[in-house]
Amino acid sequence: MSRIPQTFIDDLLTRLDIVSVIDSRVKLKKTGKNYSACCPFHQEKTPSFTVSPDKQFYYCFGCGASGNALGFVIDYERLGFIDAVESLAKTAGVEVPREENKVFRKQDFRRKKLYEILEKANRHYQAQLKQHPQKNTVVNYLKNRGLSGEIARDFGIGFAPAGRNNLLTKLGSNQEEIELLIDSGLVISKPEENKKYDRFRQRVMFPIKDERGRVIGFGGRVLGDDKPKYLNSPETEVFHKSRELYGLYEARKAERKLDHLLVVEGYMDVIALAQFGIRNAVATLGTACGEEHLKLSFRYVNDIVFCFDGDAAGRSAAKRALTNALSSMEDGRQIKFLFLPEGQDPDSLVRQIGPERFQAQIKQAVPLEEFLFDVAAENIDISTMDGRARFSKISAPMIGQLPEGIFRELMFDNLAKRTGLTREVLDELQKEKLELPEPAPIAKTEKAGTAKQTSQTQPLVSSTEAKETRTEATGIAEATPSSVPQFQQKQGLTKSLRASAVNKNPAKVATVLLLDNPSLLQQLQDVPDLTADSNPDSVRLGEIINYLRKRPESNFNSILGFWGGAKGIKQQQDLAFLMANHEINEAKSIHKLYDQVRELQDSIDALTIAKNKIDQVEELKTLKAKGLQNLTNEEKQRLIVLTKI
Ligand code: UTP
Ligand code: MN
Repeated sequence: MSRIPQTFIDDLLTRLDIVSVIDSRVKLKKTGKNYSACCPFHQEKTPSFTVSPDKQFYYCFGCGASGNALGFVIDYERLGFIDAVESLAKTAGVEVPREENKVFRKQDFRRKKLYEILEKANRHYQAQLKQHPQKNTVVNYLKNRGLSGEIARDFGIGFAPAGRNNLLTKLGSNQEEIELLIDSGLVISKPEENKKYDRFRQRVMFPIKDERGRVIGFGGRVLGDDKPKYLNSPETEVFHKSRELYGLYEARKAERKLDHLLVVEGYMDVIALAQFGIRNAVATLGTACGEEHLKLSFRYVNDIVFCFDGDAAGRSAAKRALTNALSSMEDGRQIKFLFLPEGQDPDSLVRQIGPERFQAQIKQAVPLEEFLFDVAAENIDISTMDGRARFSKISAPMIGQLPEGIFRELMFDNLAKRTGLTREVLDELQKEKLELPEPAPIAKTEKAGTAKQTSQTQPLVSSTEAKETRTEATGIAEATPSSVPQFQQKQGLTKSLRASAVNKNPAKVATVLLLDNPSLLQQLQDVPDLTADSNPDSVRLGEIINYLRKRPESNFNSILGFWGGAKGIKQQQDLAFLMANHEINEAKSIHKLYDQVRELQDSIDALTIAKNKIDQVEELKTLKAKGLQNLTNEEKQRLIVLTKI
């Protein structure tokens, strides 16, 4: 789609005088500094429609209609945005230039190509497992680890044989393809040495898929004891370790209705559990489980169980997960921590004790509320007053990070009981800086170290890097949300924490993102009709979306003008206020732009899910009201399905 450059519109508006634009359509009368007339947008006898030549703005005191010259022509002549610009350009005697909406086109096209080449590589690796002369070494390795052919197929396991140019020759027949191989992380390029070679060689290959099942990267394991044990795809335009979970697609495919997710550490843990019928395990990709991972998980389930090794490294990893999880703990969600016996991982344990006993262990996992107090009480004697003071100082700020709600209140009550302190004191205490008993390194740091030494090309994501990805990914923060206590803003708690207050209102997040960059709308899929929603924020978003569909070239000002005209000054101010109070990461790079699209899509998806739930509740009510004896067979079936949800 071609678009009119914003600079042209700005120039056009400075060139035109709003007074003559309006006067040629509605006769104006000079009244002092301004001009006035009877408002063309509502019925009236005395003129309350005013045009200000200074501000180049019109406003009606009667109905609140307002806007600039362009907005006037759009509303008065009921023209689309482009037609209105063209009509005004004609008046000014200039021609409308067009520019291609290049950025998105290019980005879309490129990502499509990347997915394609990754899928081709995936098929290639899988074919090698079937036909390569050395396939038996791999097949035997997998058999030795107890995997059936069926599970290998479900997870798309493949084989990258030895050799530095297998993929290069097979998939890189021209310069463009070679570049795609490099950009998707499949081929390593060392321009300074003028070298290119396959990243994955002599390894078992695990394709990593996104939620929709598209291959976005790979993990590759050595067949023996060489180092590094695993190589992973690097970060690319389509692969971000901080927000992908290995096995999520497969879990969703295997379990029609996911009850909870089990978050484990390794590829092989996910696969071994699946082999034993535990199909709901996912793994982070060598990074700690961060907020983005949780956000993704909570889109599908309300319960998450983390599995950690029983050793010290596992415990620090668990503490890290705990801190990362606090802000996601909205009412109705649950997180538990399962600590495995020392030296075991889920793969080895499920083999040893079988799936039933493994499931029984999961049931025994420690709930987050308990683990939080455990962590805070570590090395502290809470039978002393001093100990209790120290204990409160650690736990209150953690509880303070929970989103507002019943769970948070209960946790404060619980803390009050444990310490004998009043709620007022605890409220003061939660302003303390969040401090964990120890700056826990993540379990994988050690492995990252070894990987770095043995392979220059493939360092794992270090703990700091993982942390950076986590904080960077959040785009929006609400400056004056009523739900976030003042002190948190003053103390400058993490941006992501403040963002989580907004996340509770996906309609607002989506509204802000869209108003800031209306062209994002073209990137979205499955946008529901929100105009009949019960939440006014959703309705507003729905109406803005409808407006943008009709006038895709709009910018914030024209939307604001339209909104004032349609809804009156109060609502116009509300919208302006919403925008004024949000920061948005400017989408300068493609990467940030992608983040914004993703954030917007997440918000829209969240609204869709909420909407479906409400629809289902309504449907259930209607069916129940009919009375069981009056239902058709089909309706009965539906009733059964609905009661289960
Ligand atoms: P583990 O070493 O616990 O993996 O590392 P695992 O799945 O139990 O491996 P097996 O059983 O020996 O095959 C857990 C995860 O950490 C990342 C991988 O994502 C792995 O699945 N990791 C580990 C790496 O990325 N590189 C490494 O060298 C090691
Ligand atoms: Mn293992």
